[in-house]
Amino acid sequence: MSSSDPIRLSNGVAMPRCGFGTANLRGDVGERAVLDAIAVGYRSIDTAEAYGNEDAVGRAIAASGLPRDELFITTKFDRHWHREDGPRQALAASLERLGLDMVDLLLIHWPNPSLGRYVEAWRGMVDLLEQERVRAIGTSNFTPEHLTRLIDATGVAPHINQIQLNPWVPRHDERAFHDANGIVTESWGPLGLGWGHDRSTSLFDEPPVAAAAEAHARTPGQVILRWHLQLGLVAIPRTQHKERMRENLDLDGFHLTDEEMEAITALERDGVAVDPETAGH
Ligand SMILES: NC(=O)c1ccc[n+]([C@@H]2O[C@H](COP(=O)([O-])OP(=O)(O)OC[C@H]3O[C@@H](n4cnc5c(N)ncnc54)[C@H](OP(=O)(O)O)[C@@H]3O)[C@@H](O)[C@H]2O)c1
Repeated sequence: MSSSDPIRLSNGVAMPRCGFGTANLRGDVGERAVLDAIAVGYRSIDTAEAYGNEDAVGRAIAASGLPRDELFITTKFDRHWHREDGPRQALAASLERLGLDMVDLLLIHWPNPSLGRYVEAWRGMVDLLEQERVRAIGTSNFTPEHLTRLIDATGVAPHINQIQLNPWVPRHDERAFHDANGIVTESWGPLGLGWGHDRSTSLFDEPPVAAAAEAHARTPGQVILRWHLQLGLVAIPRTQHKERMRENLDLDGFHLTDEEMEAITALERDGVAVDPETAGH
């Protein structure tokens, strides 16, 4: 499988498998990073209300000069929109900040179970899809239990669930549930360097990752992103460095063996997963 082959969502919409994450990339730095990312070839950009950078992302999109339909733009909304009419209002506010008239994918950023209103918000998402105000709808940080509630209440499964996923947090149960319900799995923190990361260790130094990097003459980051690709996942690594943007997109020309895939998947460990029952905004 090539990194440039799009993945098909259950409604037929095509989405790039390799996207660009933008958390913490705000203002001029964010605008520059997104512009560089588009210049090196990224066509999918992941932003969110919570990142405070939809304006910067929007300026970069405009400055890129690319036709809008060549880009796949995702945004997400926070807990204060968790009611049936919330997604419509959240979407309008995001579009205003982005300077766009459509996003490709809208996500409920966190389930916020203590609030208990994500099913209401999902009803509003289904309305937006039916009204063709967005091309695809999804969730982020939802567990199989949360997703089951959405499906039972509306009969509509998200097109995507974006969750923390990397070799330390391989999310076996979540992936199996997604596959059984036609939900594409998107990995945040794909390199294990974002939220939840213990700064005293690095996934890049794990022996199976380092060994595969050496065997294929690739970087540890490329090995980890290739692991996502071979598992059929969408990944959205973030970097503000243009050379790393290129590196993170350059995933063809090598293939991890079954043994390498298994050894990397076996790196699962406790204490890294962020808990969506308690975390969120
Ligand atoms: N839905 C959610 O709740 C949620 C939560 C977290 C993240 N996300 C999304 O997922 C995206 C990615 O997750 P993340 O940003 O947390 O983590 P990540 O992509 O795993 O790691 C980002 C970090 O890795 C470094 N990096 C990137 N490429 C590298 C390379 N080739 N070699 C060495 N270091 C490299 C970056 O540093 P430099 O910039 O210095 O290169 C940055 O500090 C976010 O940007 C955001 O869009 C979503």
